[in-house]
Amino acid sequence: MRDPFSPFTYDLSDRVVLVTGASSGLGARMAKVLATHGAKVALAARRVDRLAQLQRDIEDHGGTAFAVNLDVASEEQTIAAYDAVEAALGPVNTVIANAGIARDLKRATDNPPEDFDTTYAVNLRGVFLTAREGAKRMMAAGSKQSEHGRIVLISSITSFDISPHSTFYSATKAGVSQMGRVLAYDWARMGINVNMIAPGYIQTEINDGLFETDYGRSMLAKWPRRRVIDADALDSTVLFLCSDHSRQITGTVTTVDDGQSLS
Ligand SMILES: NC(=O)c1ccc[n+]([C@@H]2O[C@H](COP(=O)([O-])OP(=O)(O)OC[C@H]3O[C@@H](n4cnc5c(N)ncnc54)[C@H](OP(=O)(O)O)[C@@H]3O)[C@@H](O)[C@H]2O)c1
Repeated sequence: MRDPFSPFTYDLSDRVVLVTGASSGLGARMAKVLATHGAKVALAARRVDRLAQLQRDIEDHGGTAFAVNLDVASEEQTIAAYDAVEAALGPVNTVIANAGIARDLKRATDNPPEDFDTTYAVNLRGVFLTAREGAKRMMAAGSKQSEHGRIVLISSITSFDISPHSTFYSATKAGVSQMGRVLAYDWARMGINVNMIAPGYIQTEINDGLFETDYGRSMLAKWPRRRVIDADALDSTVLFLCSDHSRQITGTVTTVDDGQSLS
């Protein structure tokens, strides 16, 4: 039990974290923040040139990182990526399943079903493959005894709020939140905590140009604070959920949206 007179710190030096979708946006930022707090960070995505650049950036700031090519839709590549990370950094005890795509932004009647398959393959099946392989390895490394396993799935406010023209994306994000709750239950006795973060809108490549459109401007106008969220909004939640301080928190969905979903 923690001494109530000792201040909170986030020392993640015993953490080996795999971050999927680390080549841009939220994933790249989370990797930097985690590395700054001592974690060894595995950077996974398909654009390996970007990952190599991020690895150098983290190393230049005194951190430890390892870039690995991964298409999360592939089970084979997922297993190979974990093998490579384990050889380079040691067994992964923390996973951030962040890789995601948004294909729709069309009326449902105009949406080709193939886009559903692609979105599903990355946003839901890919998140499952990443979490499952991580959990297997955590269990093999003794998570039941250490209670050290941490898995964070990146959902979205679209999992519970209505975002027009995003049928496929919203459906997969709702799936992420509910799947994560079931995984949290299934793995609770194995010392693995599974929690979700549901961010509101943050300016990244996934919504590039959106807020210059009439549709984007109408979203901004209805949000109580009339703004997208700052890029640093998720930092503290990510650190908390990856740390020992979240030991008895599992199966939760934390909304970080500056009140956007209140509108
Ligand atoms: N920005 C927002 O407003 C917002 C709000 C709520 C939730 N989110 C969620 O946050 C996560 C990160 O999004 P972002 O905003 O940072 O967007 P982003 O900048 O477009 O980043 C998406 C990341 O996912 C990776 N990715 C896509 N397909 C992949 C695949 N098949 N295999 C491996 N990696 C893949 C991309 O890397 P490669 O292309 O190099 O593979 C990229 O690093 C997503 O799950 C998104 O749904 C974002």
